[in-house]
Amino acid sequence: MKTPLRIGTPLSSTATKVMLLGAGELGKEVIISLQRLGVEVIAVDRYPNAPGQQVAHRSHVIDMTDGDALAALIELERPDLVVPEIEAIATDMLVALEQAGKVRVIPTARATSLTMNREGIRRLAGETLSLATSPYRFADSLEQLITATREIGFPCVIKPVMSSSGKGQTKLDDAGQIEAAWQHALTGGRVDSTRVIVEGFIDFDYEITLLTVRALNDKNEVATYFCEPIGHIQVQGDYVESWQPHPMHPAALDKARDIARKITENLGGLGLFGVELFVKGDMVWFSEVSPRPHDTGMVTMATQVQSEFELHAKAILGLPVNVALKTPGASAVIYGQHDAVGIAFEGVAEALRVPGTDIRLFGKPESFKRRRMGVVVASGEDIETARIRAKQAVAKIKPITGN
Ligand SMILES: Nc1ncnc2c1ncn2[C@@H]1O[C@H](COP(=O)(O)OP(=O)(O)O)[C@@H](O)[C@H]1O
Ligand SMILES: [Mg+2]
Repeated sequence: MKTPLRIGTPLSSTATKVMLLGAGELGKEVIISLQRLGVEVIAVDRYPNAPGQQVAHRSHVIDMTDGDALAALIELERPDLVVPEIEAIATDMLVALEQAGKVRVIPTARATSLTMNREGIRRLAGETLSLATSPYRFADSLEQLITATREIGFPCVIKPVMSSSGKGQTKLDDAGQIEAAWQHALTGGRVDSTRVIVEGFIDFDYEITLLTVRALNDKNEVATYFCEPIGHIQVQGDYVESWQPHPMHPAALDKARDIARKITENLGGLGLFGVELFVKGDMVWFSEVSPRPHDTGMVTMATQVQSEFELHAKAILGLPVNVALKTPGASAVIYGQHDAVGIAFEGVAEALRVPGTDIRLFGKPESFKRRRMGVVVASGEDIETARIRAKQAVAKIKPITGN
């Protein structure tokens, strides 16, 4: 049986230590939530001064895809929990360390390993659990890709099996662009894998993230809790805007929850998951799942009694959670607009004068034109009002270079 972790005093022999693997904007908020609960937090990333490292007790810079480096750091710090924030990690090593009883990985090492590769999670969802997904094939060469697209038909979507934020992804309307899509996938993939997935294009009415929390109830049993659905818009596979609650037909919501429950129960452990689903009428397809807070879920900093970050922090410690909605709301992304280090932001005060808005600037040391550098969250009496407010506020923010 699982029990809540005892919380000690940070930086003392009783400290409850949590190590974040990846310390971007999502990790930063999880760390702030853990800090409030008196947890000692160690933030790891591949570059110095990552957002989460700026608010942790200590930080380390390592190549997290290097299993030996990861094992050595875990041995050095001996955290009670290891919390992956990104996918690009030596998850095989996490599986081995967890099996050897050396560490507890959130939600489980197996979940991080399955979800870092589209093939693992897709085969689990589509084949083991028989959840509705888009039709799919895998290909390891241009020839195999041509065969796969013929079998799936057009339009279809081609993605490297290891990639995130839409990197290396192409929507194909006909056979003419297959070679370009293959090349794009090879350059956009995260590691040296040349494997791609071809998915039939789902002509959905809308897509949602269903934040699903596995947390202990008052009997110390693992229970599943669902947040209100989050609607979002993706441009080139990257989220630009989200809102909550997205209205759903009750039959579709039931199906969405059923899918989310099945996939998260299989992945196991404690924590928050972002289950991505496509919806058309009352049909629902599983797309993918993050075993951690989701970028579209940043809206919950405005909309929920407990944000997705606080829910994750509490759930992993074995504490009770409250998934209640507080108000309708929306989020909109602030992009860097420049390729430069040390940018500044003008117009923050003007943005915050838009009613119901708040802002997070992540503090990333280096900006890229399409890098997410901050987010505006807004509340409103309905999602339409909140979406307008969030976008109005973002329009007032001007990233600038130099002093
Ligand atoms: N099979 C599909 N049919 C329709 N749209 C898709 C499909 N696959 C991906 N998309 C669109 O691209 C976005 C990003 O794809 P996703 O598989 O979630 O990649 P990532 O892991 O980079 O987030 C989705 O949120 C959706 O908008
Ligand atoms: Mg996605």
